[in-house]
Amino acid sequence: MIAEMQQHEFDLLKEYLLKSSGIDVPPEKQYLFTTRLSEFLAEETCTSFEHLHSRMGLDAKLHQRFVEAMTTHETSFFRDGHPYRTLQEHIIPVIVKMRGISPRKIYIWSMGCSTGQEPYSIAITIHEWCRLNPGTGLIPSDFVIFASDISDKVLNVARLGIYSRDEVARGVPDNLLATYFCKHQRGYSVADEVRSLIQFRELNLSQPIQYIGKFDLLLCRNVMIYFSTELRKRIVRQFHEMLQPEGFLLLGSSETIYGLSDAFSTEHRGETNVYRAVK
Ligand SMILES: C[S@@+](CC[C@H](N)C(=O)[O-])C[C@H]1O[C@@H](n2cnc3c(N)ncnc32)[C@H](O)[C@@H]1O
Repeated sequence: MIAEMQQHEFDLLKEYLLKSSGIDVPPEKQYLFTTRLSEFLAEETCTSFEHLHSRMGLDAKLHQRFVEAMTTHETSFFRDGHPYRTLQEHIIPVIVKMRGISPRKIYIWSMGCSTGQEPYSIAITIHEWCRLNPGTGLIPSDFVIFASDISDKVLNVARLGIYSRDEVARGVPDNLLATYFCKHQRGYSVADEVRSLIQFRELNLSQPIQYIGKFDLLLCRNVMIYFSTELRKRIVRQFHEMLQPEGFLLLGSSETIYGLSDAFSTEHRGETNVYRAVK
């Protein structure tokens, strides 16, 4: 049964979610709270949304459940296709060229990685690029992929790296399935050589993040769409600080950097908008 929500309860939960995770629920989407939280309200024996709000500050598990319920985890392998073609044909070659003969590793960060399909797609693309470009002397372990999300629950799925047949069917071509996955009783398991490139970590993008390090490529796809413009601007400023000069940023297909920052140049590569840090 869908619980009723009073205006002051909407205001309380909206403010709480905004402060704790950056997610901004506009008034016309009030139904998101009622549809996503009603069941959990009953399970947690909360008598009202106000009661839930009063308990969350004192109960870390309840808080985490609330954030998980209010975040959208939709994802798939090689989502939208073209960003991964651009990664293989343009971004990786340019990063490798810019790095030159330096022995340093190449750092990539998949932010808001959900259940892991995005970082695994990046790792597979890197394996394929190294296989097809043996002359460069680079091997997959020259790349490090950080993958983060605010939700512990999706990160546990991501770390496990086991996907159903339906999940791999959404995006993994047969040749890559045969090479980079192993059959598993629950579907398919990502091969160890793919998994070993990725370090998973729980991280809230609405908190300061620039201390993490310097990166060659940041992917923040389909995450900031839920944030306020003010927070998006702050996060994009941090992206700029974290990127190497001319470093790359990829956003989701429906997202743009226009109106958020003028510290990036834009390259149009087919359907992909590639942003690069101007320093
Ligand atoms: C729609 S999924 C996008 C997954 C993947 N990037 C893709 O494009 O397929 C958005 C993810 O962002 C995460 N997220 C939302 N708010 C966040 C925050 N403040 N910090 C970190 N991750 C967040 C959610 O938990 C969710 O897994």
